[in-house]
Amino acid sequence: MISKAIEQAFNKQLNAETYSAYLYWSMSAALEEMNLPGFANWMRIQAQEEMTHANKFYNQIIERGGKVTLTAIDGPPTEWDSVKAVFEAGLAHEQLVTGLINDMMDLAIQEKDHAANMFLQWFVTEQVEEEATAMEILGKLEIVGETTGGLYMLDKEMGQRVFTPPVEE
Ligand code: FEO
Repeated sequence: MISKAIEQAFNKQLNAETYSAYLYWSMSAALEEMNLPGFANWMRIQAQEEMTHANKFYNQIIERGGKVTLTAIDGPPTEWDSVKAVFEAGLAHEQLVTGLINDMMDLAIQEKDHAANMFLQWFVTEQVEEEATAMEILGKLEIVGETTGGLYMLDKEMGQRVFTPPVEE
């Protein structure tokens, strides 16, 4: 059985992961407007991935005998000045999510909830990857600058990302 504190934290994170999907979907639309379909594709897949994260919390709450409580999702920003600004905002968002995961891990340790601890370990690893990926893309953007040719090449590369559904536990 899940404690009320963990149940509440997991429901809050279910909302946060869904907001992440919403944010990246909005970023994808902004990138489409910038005529960067490859970057837009990358971001749309990122949004799909976030929904798989939300789904993991959904499943976990139910598996532990808790109650899923869905709450309103905030509207994300809709305008960014450049592709670089989009990815800077993406990195800042992932850093925020890392903080949320760490806070939940602290709570799991405090509550001596080993199952929650095990479950959250996947997210701790995932956040390292999420931040590293955002930094890597920002690094590439730094190299090509705002040159049309460089952005065109990078856009092609970003267009190759495909969605791989995670293995369900
Ligand atoms: Fe659900 Fe981007 O972390």
